Amino acid sequence: MKRGAGATLARAFPRLRSHGQTPRAAHWTFDSPIPRRLSMPPTRQCCHALLWHEQLGIAIDCINPLHYGHGSAEATTTIRCAFFARMMIYVLIQCIDTRSFDGRHDDALEPTLNLETMANPSLTTLRTFAVEFDRRFDDLLSDNAQHSHTPLFEAMRYSALAPGKRIRPFLVVRCCELVGGNRDRAWPVAAAVECIHAFSLIHDDLPAMDDDDLRRGKLTCHRKFGEAIAILAGDALSVLAFALLSEVEVEADLRVQLVQELSQATGWLGMIGGQAADVVGQQQVSSPDLLTFIHARKTARLFEAACRMGALTGAGSEKLVSHLAQFGHKMGQSFQIADDLLDVTSSQHELGKAVGKDDLAGKQTYPACFGLKESQKAAQIAKDEALASLTCFGQKAEDLRQLASFVVDRKH
Ligand code: IPE
Ligand code: IPE
Ligand code: MG
Ligand code: MG
Ligand code: MG
Repeated sequence: MKRGAGATLARAFPRLRSHGQTPRAAHWTFDSPIPRRLSMPPTRQCCHALLWHEQLGIAIDCINPLHYGHGSAEATTTIRCAFFARMMIYVLIQCIDTRSFDGRHDDALEPTLNLETMANPSLTTLRTFAVEFDRRFDDLLSDNAQHSHTPLFEAMRYSALAPGKRIRPFLVVRCCELVGGNRDRAWPVAAAVECIHAFSLIHDDLPAMDDDDLRRGKLTCHRKFGEAIAILAGDALSVLAFALLSEVEVEADLRVQLVQELSQATGWLGMIGGQAADVVGQQQVSSPDLLTFIHARKTARLFEAACRMGALTGAGSEKLVSHLAQFGHKMGQSFQIADDLLDVTSSQHELGKAVGKDDLAGKQTYPACFGLKESQKAAQIAKDEALASLTCFGQKAEDLRQLASFVVDRKH
């Protein structure tokens, strides 16, 4: 790239940010939201800069005449070229608006979760688990696919199998084992919980909600497949969760109990209710009670359900099930406080999703309500309460303890 072109490009698209040292297109990403309109008229200079945007071959070629016109004495050529460039920038914006990148933009947004270099041993356990889970999850999704090449199914797979941490399915499987259950029975239950989580993320990112362009280091579902398909992919994943539960190899009564548990954790008294309160809360004054209500429902309730469902699948006693459910709920609270903190303290590069948006959107968050220091303390307190619920499991619950620590200390 010629000197100054990056600066010109950045001026033309104020939300376009460079994340790399080298001026290759792969290091440019659009911060959310993608600009609908140029902030300044497409001058010769800024069109010139676009010549180096490698991924947009069509714009590069067509703008080229401007390059030749530059410096020539012939005013008409310059005017014609400027008009041409203006038109091509319009095409470029349309490309972005109609999501016609055909996936090429994905390469520029490679997953930034650096699981390899994290030293925390709980993460190693989680990473090993995630590899096995993803393989089984992929199989389960494919088994349920009647028309596997439809955009809807592609969107479901794209979001569900994108590189997430898999904390919730880990909780399901480990809680099943902790109470003495057979791990193999827990896989479809774990997949069901992850389907609900993936559905919640797809809808959470929609323009009508948090309006995000990045998730798990990739384009969000609606950015990749369009809004309608994303909405439907979320819907389909939420229904698939219950189809998976209907196939769990446990007694019929227990299967019904699992369905009840997940529907309550997901529905209007659970995650969806919490998300609604989160949206409405943007218009309300900051309040600790409201914040606790939102966190409990939108996040902690599904963590709690993951633990309870795992322990139920493993035929755990009422007492053990209730201890693990309490652990899940408290860990879920600490998890969401950490998520609120990361939005303030981390980077898009580390998180694989946008940062700094909660404050702009007027979200009810811990940092907004209590400040950073108090929020960090609150996360530790919730973690300690979570750990207290594991006492009766002794050494056997060590990986859950490490997970609880990872959740509050994590960088992504
Ligand atoms: C993100 O959850 C959504 C929240 C509840 C804050 P995770 O951080 O567990 O998301 P993935 O699954 O790892 O992407
Ligand atoms: C969303 O909380 C929780 C869900 C139920 C998906 P956030 O909106 O804070 O989650 P992120 O930060 O987008 O992952
Ligand atoms: Mg949200
Ligand atoms: Mg969000
Ligand atoms: Mg968040």
